[in-house]
Amino acid sequence: MCAGEEVGGPSEDPAAPPDDTGEALGLGPARLTITFGFGPTLFSLNGHDRFGLASKRPVQLADLPPFPSDVLEPDRSGGDIAVQACADDPQVAFHAVRNLARIGRGTAVMRWSQLGFGRTSSTSRAQETPRNLMGFKDGTNNIKLEDEAALAEHVWAGAHDEPAWMRGGSYLVARRIRMLIEVWDRASLGDQEATIGRTKTIGAPLGGHGEFDHVDLAARSRSGLPTIPADAHIRLAAPTENRGIRILRRGYSFTDGMDPRLGQLDAGLFFIAYQRDPRRQFVPLQRHLARTDALNEYITHTGSAVFACPPGVAPGDYIGGTLI
Ligand code: HEM
Repeated sequence: MCAGEEVGGPSEDPAAPPDDTGEALGLGPARLTITFGFGPTLFSLNGHDRFGLASKRPVQLADLPPFPSDVLEPDRSGGDIAVQACADDPQVAFHAVRNLARIGRGTAVMRWSQLGFGRTSSTSRAQETPRNLMGFKDGTNNIKLEDEAALAEHVWAGAHDEPAWMRGGSYLVARRIRMLIEVWDRASLGDQEATIGRTKTIGAPLGGHGEFDHVDLAARSRSGLPTIPADAHIRLAAPTENRGIRILRRGYSFTDGMDPRLGQLDAGLFFIAYQRDPRRQFVPLQRHLARTDALNEYITHTGSAVFACPPGVAPGDYIGGTLI
């Protein structure tokens, strides 16, 4: 599928369902990539070693703890296996997920699925910083693929990390974060900028001029107040305020129509982050944010999952080959 080819090759038997469902024919590879991950429940469920893998569960793959103000929906959370398909064309991504689910039928059932669009966070210096649905540039201070040392330190499971089967892989945290868009849209520009800690148009840190200017958390206005407010998102998320914690953010925007109970858009950020150890990265960071982030007035976390993504496959190998 990543080469733009049909699953199983062309079907000619009129008496059998075709191997490939067909909707990606002629669309090309569209830069399709597929990432797989294993959730905590694949290793054990309620103490039951379902597949004989319990002893191989990475300690890093701990269940995420509850965070203040989480409103998680079980039907949008958890899962044994994650399949993330990314492509330039949503139909190509859909085709990949659909056909993998189809091949798995009888062995695996789909638990939840989330369609995202737009890539909220830049992950390379060559990319112009995209905007999230709040209209702010997102990814300015993200780890970039050019920062190889930062990737090795914060994102990839290293050559000496345990378990050995995860070396070269990474841990994925997914959070479906609904934005209370109607409330946000009524907030003044000043309030919006104070909430994030950056200007809306340029994306400059408050007190700075350019998007990539140094974030000066010590700066104070003439009245003595911090230029970047104490509860601004970028202050609370900054590595200097979190013992050096960094994560690779790689989220997407989503919209799932509207919430008929409230007559409001059901839209937001499908937050995806990769890291070397969620217990030491996402969890403490999110604890900090969940307590005091000004952004909390405008968001609700509605889905949550954590997965161990094994290293990529070489020709002749198979996904999860290092584990199984
Ligand atoms: C809907 C929810 C969220 C929105 C709208 C949002 C938006 C933003 C924006 C606009 C920035 C500034 C630009 C940048 O450096 O990328 C930012 C930075 C950041 N965000 Fe979020 N974010 C959200 C949730 C989260 C969550 C859940 C986490 C982690 C637990 C997080 C971690 C970070 C980090 C680490 C930074 C960079 C801080 C720095 O070093 O300057 N964000 N976010």
